[in-house]
Amino acid sequence: MSGLWVVGLLVLLVLISVVTSTLITGISPQPSHLAARHFIIQQTQQLLGSQASRTLVDLGSGWGHLVVPLARRFPQHQVIGYELSFFPWLVSCLLKKLLGLDNLKLYRRNFLQADLSQADLLICYLVRPTMHKLAARLEHLDSRPRFLLSHFFSLPGYSPLHTWQLPDWHQSPFYLYCLDKQQPTESLNHV
Ligand SMILES: C[S@@+](CC[C@H](N)C(=O)[O-])C[C@H]1O[C@@H](n2cnc3c(N)ncnc32)[C@H](O)[C@@H]1O
Repeated sequence: MSGLWVVGLLVLLVLISVVTSTLITGISPQPSHLAARHFIIQQTQQLLGSQASRTLVDLGSGWGHLVVPLARRFPQHQVIGYELSFFPWLVSCLLKKLLGLDNLKLYRRNFLQADLSQADLLICYLVRPTMHKLAARLEHLDSRPRFLLSHFFSLPGYSPLHTWQLPDWHQSPFYLYCLDKQQPTESLNHV
């Protein structure tokens, strides 16, 4: 009985923590679905696959559903995940340890306050208000990351290099931006 109480309390704690961070960030730690993950890995292969030692950053890495396969698939690259929600971040750290992924770094931090200038590829699955904040943050970087691949929402003020809609039942839109060759097309000061 006391064992059940402990499990119940733990589940409640996880729920409260996840709901609180969802209210703060505006998005739950819901993983990208399988087809979206395959698509991201395929695009990463096309953009950076043949290159030596690049830096991939998942902006909001959740439970690790994307950073873990990326780190396994591209051992030559450095994969970085930023996540604010405590339990998802903790689970992804356990997976990293368990799988011995030395090329994966996981930070429990707000990516809007992180130095993203050295990234070659940013990947995100966020909500529109956060995309506005991300666009404003990118505008103030001296050197911008090369590419941004966004699942679901576009980046305000930038023109995508490519857009896709996956043919599965989610019909997820994807946007690819080449950030280092592009100035924002409109002022982001008022977004
Ligand atoms: C929809 S999940 C995506 C998880 C993972 N990237 C994937 O594709 O499977 C979005 C995650 O972004 C995190 N997040 C949102 N804003 C954030 C911020 N400013 N800093 C760090 N993490 C953030 C949320 O906590 C959530 O776990």
